[in-house]
Amino acid sequence: MANKILVKNIRSLVQVENDLPRKKVAGAEMKNLPCLHDAWLAVEDGLIADFGTMVDFPGITDWSGLQVIDANEGLVLPCWCDSHTHIVYAGSREGEFVDRINGLSYQEIAERGGGILNSAKKLAGASEDELFESAMQRIREVIAQGTGAIEIKSGYGLSLESELKMLRVIRRLKEKAPVPVKATFLGAHAVPKTHTKEAYIKLIIEEMLPAIAAEGLADYCDAFCENGYFSKAETGHIMEAAKKHGLVPKIHAEQLSHSGGVEAGVDCGAISVDHLEYVNENDIALLKKSNTMPVVLPGAQFFLSLINPPARQMIDAGLPLAIASDYNPGSSPSGNMNLMLSLACVNYKITPAEAINAATINGAYAMGLSETHGSIARGKAANFFITQPVPNYDFLPYAFGSDLVQAVIVGGKVVHEKN
Ligand code: NIG
Ligand code: FE
Repeated sequence: MANKILVKNIRSLVQVENDLPRKKVAGAEMKNLPCLHDAWLAVEDGLIADFGTMVDFPGITDWSGLQVIDANEGLVLPCWCDSHTHIVYAGSREGEFVDRINGLSYQEIAERGGGILNSAKKLAGASEDELFESAMQRIREVIAQGTGAIEIKSGYGLSLESELKMLRVIRRLKEKAPVPVKATFLGAHAVPKTHTKEAYIKLIIEEMLPAIAAEGLADYCDAFCENGYFSKAETGHIMEAAKKHGLVPKIHAEQLSHSGGVEAGVDCGAISVDHLEYVNENDIALLKKSNTMPVVLPGAQFFLSLINPPARQMIDAGLPLAIASDYNPGSSPSGNMNLMLSLACVNYKITPAEAINAATINGAYAMGLSETHGSIARGKAANFFITQPVPNYDFLPYAFGSDLVQAVIVGGKVVHEKN
């Protein structure tokens, strides 16, 4: 079994770091995407051991256990770090897609019992095994598209039993998936018909959080802070309780209206605030003083025909920015990160370099992985993909909808290879 990999003839080794690796990139720095051209990369025991240019290649002295991969003038990039998904779900919701085309809004569909409650009904009838198999298939799908780390939320359970079921499925995915997985408890995704909001929040705080903490099922706690869902005060209250159980806050914020989610997130020290269509100047100022990563979800914004988040304005104000897919059956039935980059570049006027920073190092930060993932640095996890021969990294979001990933290497193993 090979425990060493050498990748040679790399047209560009992208997002490469020589000095102390950064934890995130912000503001004007985001335009800078360090590259080494005509390069090689060596992997040993699952970690990046070394890299350099082909002209200075020292040669191979020890061939034992070595696998040599010819990149054949393809690029090498750190895998996408997708810090926001809901890929554990049952069934699909293409009917709502058609309803929206015919004029209904996301909120109107939700008021008729569609939306999140629709997925909750479907999930209640699914077994842990079914949920595990379908989610694993989605993980394999996104790995083939270059994703190398993924955060997964609960939130289609909305009862103690079903939220635990979802989180146990995520725990199995953590154990079995070839890529790192982070688990987020999103009990506060919607209020189930069985409870008043007050009673449901009590259930989250008094029963769900202690049970989840007792089994160590979640890294993060999320809430949908939105008009008609959970207010800023309710979100804050839930997050304070979550923190007592050792869960780190992460918030669905300012997606459909300005609801105070960014303020709630910054107040409780959230690792990220996500969506951000309705972010205002005050929120930007608050984020500037925080360690919270702003995350945009271009797939959900596109699919629900929402307004653009002020991504350009946030970067110009000196903030970092991450991009994630929000892969879920309602608002973003795609986990294709390259497509998310294309949408962000075109709609938010951010450059490919900024988008790649947003989807690699900053995505890693938004899921607590930037010490080990999100860039090509000696000692970091070998977690990268090789593209087909393309001219440069601008070509990736430019070629929207194309599949340019040739091979994916995670933990020192080739986990996907295109025929
Ligand atoms: O991130 N905004 C709330 N939650 C999800 C959508 C969930 C759904 O519609 O199933 C989101 O867009
Ligand atoms: Fe979401």
